[in-house]
Amino acid sequence: MHIPIVDAGQGGAGQSPQDAQHYMRSGSLQLQALPPLSLYVHLPWCIKKCPYCDFNSHAHARSGLPQARYIDALMADLEASLPSIWGRAVHSIFLGGGTPSLFDPDSIDTLLAGLRARLPLEPGCEISMEANPGTFERARFAAYAQAGVTRLSIGVQSFHDAHLQALGRVHDRAQAIAAVEEAAKSFKTFNLDLMYALPGQTLDQLHNDLDTALAFAPPHLSVYHLTIEPNTLFAKYPPQVPQEDDAYDMLDAITERTAAKGLHRYEVSAYAQDAHRCRHNLNYWLFGDYLGIGAGAHSKLSFAHRVVRQVRLREPQLYMQQALAGCPLAQDEDVARSELAFEFLLNALRLRHGFSLRDFTERTGLGVNAIEAGLREAQAKGLVERDLARVRPTERGFDFLSDLQQLFLSNA
Ligand SMILES: C[S@@+](CC[C@H](N)C(=O)[O-])C[C@H]1O[C@@H](n2cnc3c(N)ncnc32)[C@H](O)[C@@H]1O
Ligand code: SF4
Repeated sequence: MHIPIVDAGQGGAGQSPQDAQHYMRSGSLQLQALPPLSLYVHLPWCIKKCPYCDFNSHAHARSGLPQARYIDALMADLEASLPSIWGRAVHSIFLGGGTPSLFDPDSIDTLLAGLRARLPLEPGCEISMEANPGTFERARFAAYAQAGVTRLSIGVQSFHDAHLQALGRVHDRAQAIAAVEEAAKSFKTFNLDLMYALPGQTLDQLHNDLDTALAFAPPHLSVYHLTIEPNTLFAKYPPQVPQEDDAYDMLDAITERTAAKGLHRYEVSAYAQDAHRCRHNLNYWLFGDYLGIGAGAHSKLSFAHRVVRQVRLREPQLYMQQALAGCPLAQDEDVARSELAFEFLLNALRLRHGFSLRDFTERTGLGVNAIEAGLREAQAKGLVERDLARVRPTERGFDFLSDLQQLFLSNA
């Protein structure tokens, strides 16, 4: 999962992360414990920009990619940020993009060695990396595994050539299949990203995509409804996509067929064998902390008296220049106390198993009374069920997630 990237004051110079004392000063919260900490590293380049994509990704030829300079900038960024995570071990790392697999295995090795040298990693720390089948070469994935990547996520999207073309993808079905075969050889845990409700897609074609994907017995599948995002080429020239009812039929087919293969829908778009859930994304969804380094990366960090959100400069050249000068930030703000409950619930209600009330109180510093009215209303509408310890969305709540989330927006 990616946190959507907003355009964050990209004018000129960036800010430095504040010194630790500034983050530790008194404030409106009293957090009893700090949540687990993850690290997100954004690698912002792709061979070509896809027409539906609003991630912070920039087209760049493979040759001449400033890999070494970017890694130097990431290390400077991390070093400037260390005081704000002092003494905390990292429980997962995610190399996301963009297309991280544009980086050579040697560069990924250097990057991971640099992270390990600067951060204590928990034993068994999950290290995920995104890969695009268009950057695939034989032995490349094995080399990423050798460098320490434990979980590869492949952006397949579809196995149908006409749909891949309509999505402006740089790869075809044959390359997607070769990439997945190679990933299955090198990684015990790997994920395929698929999208559905594609321009011109029929239910039969969706079934064909599922046939192909499930034949690889992937331990994890992420399946996203294609959304038309503002400021993309698809927003300007909207393609003809399936009707809403047809998209619901597709979602039913996805949920049934994945369950039949032992992949449980543990989050709205994520299906996995129980032992292969993505720890990194689970930490986002449960309002854990994450330090995000790299162009446009987002962070959420807790301190005894505040929760802080940061955004790095978005444009890669400016980011590199400013990170190397110790000033990578475009934004650095406390989350208002009044927004914490909604922020927590926005993600936690995406999870099939919901959340514990203890995590809610520990991670927001608020009492359960802050969400009691919303919970009662959601329960009365059959959207959540709860006991003394946990809240979880019902089947209906899962199907009408935005209605459920809205209840807390108005009650927050
Ligand atoms: C940042 S991409 C990472 C993978 C890599 N960049 C690629 O595309 O192959 C993460 C995933 O988000 C999904 N995604 C991106 N834009 C989307 C959109 N507009 N609607 C639905 N899913 C989207 C795609 O499945 C994509 O693989
Ligand atoms: S390859 Fe992935 S990150 Fe890059 S433009 Fe396409 S969807 Fe976006």
